[in-house]
Amino acid sequence: MLSTDLTSLPWSSEISVGHPALDGLNKDVFDLLAVIESTVHRDDAESIVGQFSQLFSTLSHALDVEEKLLGACDYPELECHITIHDQVRSYVHAWKRSLGAGHNHAHLIRTARRIHAEVTSWLIQHIQGVDALYRPYMVTHSPLTAI
Ligand SMILES: [Fe+2]
Repeated sequence: MLSTDLTSLPWSSEISVGHPALDGLNKDVFDLLAVIESTVHRDDAESIVGQFSQLFSTLSHALDVEEKLLGACDYPELECHITIHDQVRSYVHAWKRSLGAGHNHAHLIRTARRIHAEVTSWLIQHIQGVDALYRPYMVTHSPLTAI
């Protein structure tokens, strides 16, 4: 969570969590990270706050849907998974505060770079580390449609 590199990775099937709706939501998050990366490279501070707002809404929706699907298939580690999601929900509150703190242009761009790196790092580590644990369970137990 400390890197300030601004690199968006495309979603790929290698990080599939085993459910098409969740993969689609994760892909949406990666796509929005790529949009923000482009915005920062253009030095377009005016668009950044709105794009992060959209990113956080999409991420929050993805977490909610994932929890509902895990609950629907009686995933035994659901409570632990929700606790981990709650950690990033607290990060989202902090990220929103940072973005809304009335920065000047240069500070906002620096803040955007930092938050982009932190979201990207959290997302990749979470999908590859924690979400990967439920993938075999999701493949065999989940409903096919999103809840
Ligand atoms: Fe998750």
